[in-house]
Amino acid sequence: MFQDHRRRFLACMEEGDLALFPGAGLRLRSHDVVYPFRQQSDFWYLTGLREPDALLLLAKGVGDLPAETLFVAAREPEREAWTGPRVGPEGAVSQLGFAAAAPLRGAEARLDQALGRCRRLWYRLGEDARWDRWLLQALPGWRRRTRLEEAGPETLLDPTRALAELRLHKSAAELECMRRAAAITAEAHLLVMARAEPGAGEWELEALLSYTFRRHGADGWAYPPIVASGANACVLHYTACDRRLADGDLVLVDAGAEVAGYAADVTRVFPAGGCFSPPQRELYEIVLEAQRAALAAAAPGLPVDGVHQAAVLVLAQGLRALGVLSRGAEEIVVKQLYRPWFMHNTSHWLGLDVHDAGRYVVGGSSRPLRPGMCLTVEPGLYFSTDDERVPRELRGLGVRIEDDLLITASGNELLTAAVPTHPAAVEEACAAVCPLPPALATEIVHP
Ligand code: GLY
Ligand code: MN
Ligand code: MN
Repeated sequence: MFQDHRRRFLACMEEGDLALFPGAGLRLRSHDVVYPFRQQSDFWYLTGLREPDALLLLAKGVGDLPAETLFVAAREPEREAWTGPRVGPEGAVSQLGFAAAAPLRGAEARLDQALGRCRRLWYRLGEDARWDRWLLQALPGWRRRTRLEEAGPETLLDPTRALAELRLHKSAAELECMRRAAAITAEAHLLVMARAEPGAGEWELEALLSYTFRRHGADGWAYPPIVASGANACVLHYTACDRRLADGDLVLVDAGAEVAGYAADVTRVFPAGGCFSPPQRELYEIVLEAQRAALAAAAPGLPVDGVHQAAVLVLAQGLRALGVLSRGAEEIVVKQLYRPWFMHNTSHWLGLDVHDAGRYVVGGSSRPLRPGMCLTVEPGLYFSTDDERVPRELRGLGVRIEDDLLITASGNELLTAAVPTHPAAVEEACAAVCPLPPALATEIVHP
């Protein structure tokens, strides 16, 4: 999969081009404890390397340079005794399938030579201070030698957009990871629905989510899980996770696993006590109907904003039915009068980043959906406790329903259909007696 990604990026390059991609480093969490390592998404897309401190060099028709060289930390038994085995240059070739590899230490001299021979350089300035500094001192050196045959690049290109275009269209191998992330995520949501009850801590449910992701060998979560009971559901990226569920609460859970770097992103809302109250159910059904309208619309050719428009039309009708707004639904949509209660968009691309790479607007217009794109569909309505524009029984309620979608040739495929959304099915899932479920049928395979 990663070799294929490199081939795709090389196809974007011209003869005489070099491309330089630094990987992520370790980050200090406290004193001498580091944060769990997460590879930079573009670098991961091109390499599949799970180690810090690496650099990828791609070359197309630049002297006798190999098309791909991975610079990685050299093997060092004394260091590896503390932090585990490294791939090393040999492993980069034998395990990761690189044509060439070399130790990172000392890479500068080789890069400097390579720089002298290229016409254009793909490099993203402003992200990695160390390699920025190196490049900013290497380029003037070549500029002073411009009268020689080898004179350094004339053009500096930012690879962000080209990579985003590649990442936006998922291959079959990438979709396998996305499906796996979706399946594990579905199990986690079902488990939480079954286990949640008044008195449980939000943190306990968060632990069950993280446990389920890791139980199946996922990397972990794709973003910190949101477990928001009661009015906490109105905080879009609620993180405190320190309240106990009360009877009569709705609980909003927004959580997704990450598998081989690929994210799922699912939100469900369920009643802590097992049954929706009539106002809760009325609100829930409006959001569900909005989601269904958006799902029905999502197909190749539809601009991505069309998914949003399909959802907001239903939300606008719902805000009228709830007595929150009195204007006509079309006016509510055109003037975006729904914004105080639906303040985010309906969709974002989904992939290596939960809010994945790719432009939503191209040439001034909303981008048409194409087969192979993955996106979320996540309408919501949020009524904060002190919002006097809203009927009293709705205050403190927040509902979002979020699923992950693959655009196919004929329409779309719902990747996260295994988590129910119909309110009766949600109540049934809440009533399920759920000892920890058995392992999924297939074992995880890391590409
Ligand atoms: N979990 C972040 C989002 O739904 O976009
Ligand atoms: Mn989302
Ligand atoms: Mn989400």
